[in-house]
Amino acid sequence: MSGANLETITALAKRRGFVYPTSEIYGGLASSYDYGPLGAELLRNVRNLWWRELIHKRQDMVGLDSQILLHPETWVASGHVASFTDPLVEDKVTHKRYRADHLIETWLAAHPGEADVVVEDLNISDMAAFLAEHGVCSPEGHEVTAPKAFNILFETAVGVVEGEKSKVYLRGETAQGIFTNFRQILDSSRVRLPFGVGQLGKSFRNEITTGQFVFRTLEFEQAEIEYFFDPEQSDWQELFQMWQDTMWQFVTGTLGISVENLRWRRHTDRERSHYSRETYDLDYQFPFGFKELWGIAYRTDYDLQAHIAHSGRRLEYVDPQTGRRVVPHVIEPALGINRVFLMLLCDAYWEDEANQRTVLRLKPSIAPYKTAVFPLLKNKPELVEKARTIFNHLLDHMTVTWDDRGNIGKRYYYQDEIGTPFCVTVDFDTLADDTVTVRDRDTAVQQRVAIDHLLTYLQERIII
Ligand code: GAP
Repeated sequence: MSGANLETITALAKRRGFVYPTSEIYGGLASSYDYGPLGAELLRNVRNLWWRELIHKRQDMVGLDSQILLHPETWVASGHVASFTDPLVEDKVTHKRYRADHLIETWLAAHPGEADVVVEDLNISDMAAFLAEHGVCSPEGHEVTAPKAFNILFETAVGVVEGEKSKVYLRGETAQGIFTNFRQILDSSRVRLPFGVGQLGKSFRNEITTGQFVFRTLEFEQAEIEYFFDPEQSDWQELFQMWQDTMWQFVTGTLGISVENLRWRRHTDRERSHYSRETYDLDYQFPFGFKELWGIAYRTDYDLQAHIAHSGRRLEYVDPQTGRRVVPHVIEPALGINRVFLMLLCDAYWEDEANQRTVLRLKPSIAPYKTAVFPLLKNKPELVEKARTIFNHLLDHMTVTWDDRGNIGKRYYYQDEIGTPFCVTVDFDTLADDTVTVRDRDTAVQQRVAIDHLLTYLQERIII
């Protein structure tokens, strides 16, 4: 972690237009955020990089864009209606609700060495026993009720006539849309096992615990892959390792995240979901500790078999060479885009004490704007015109922002805080020799660069 606390990151995000509390004019909505102009750009960059690296660049991957509202039977088959639950407790005085496992985690952190438990291993009755034995209270210091399983699937209804509405669910994961389309993808494209289907999109969960900014929200975006294979032809452990390597490369290489802030955590046998034979989380060290960024699970053929049983359809792959029929197994790397977003802000945040500035040291390919262009003075038309020409030319190649407010120092300060890697200033020398000043965000070093070479100079350093 960069050393920044969550309040600092939240304040910067709001101040500079990355993230706002949603519908704030009405007092906001718990665990719900809007992404401002810069946040929208940053999210787009993350999505585009994920799609490019994990779908476009791979011959064994295709994309999908399925609905948020699926046939409700989907969620019965997948097990979500029965068991997509969190352990809910209620403060007996304030009636505020909390997750029992989160209260236990907080208690353990405050009482080091006093209890030897792995929170992820506790079931509801273990949690009830722990809360009672240790007198764990709510954050307000009151007694809490015994935990009960609370289903976090979001319910809504299709139809307008009262009494004739039918219950549907906002999807709790994007993965199920991939399984329900499995047969159609096989029939309509040329995929051959092993192959993967990736999808990006919104998911919804009625989360109980709130208050970790965009880390855990009611509505969020997932980037999930179901990688199908024949367990008789492919070794699942090799494929699992291949995907772990790919995830690591994406986070450390493509996104440029510091290795020391990352770790793999293997799920214990008790913690693992019922459908999974192996699960690892790639955790990032957020300001509130190491937490899951990206999960990878070997889901076997659990989901396809469940959909076969519920739909009565044959969801099989027929080997074109041998004619052998197989219900493929899957490995599932499941990423949360909003967690990537928060990780990027935390990892990039840097207080440069020597130069008394705050800098978002985002990798240039991730930064909302790659370059800012300034005329030295905004009341000198010849400077403004020259700067506009440069600005318009760069716009064809990258995201560029224009700034002519205040003095140059203030503009640099602002661009540093939003992570713009290069600032280009058009000054009086430019009019004489067709060069500009290019200032590097991280070093604050300035260089004169010929306008003819400016695009190449920037592209070599940005690598979009
Ligand atoms: N299909 C498997 C699945 O959904 P998950 O671990 O529940 O697995 C995958 O979710 C990823 O989605 C997580 O690693 C996390 O990054 C993100 N995620 C899950 N719940 C979230 C929430 N309430 N807010 C933001 N991101 C969330």
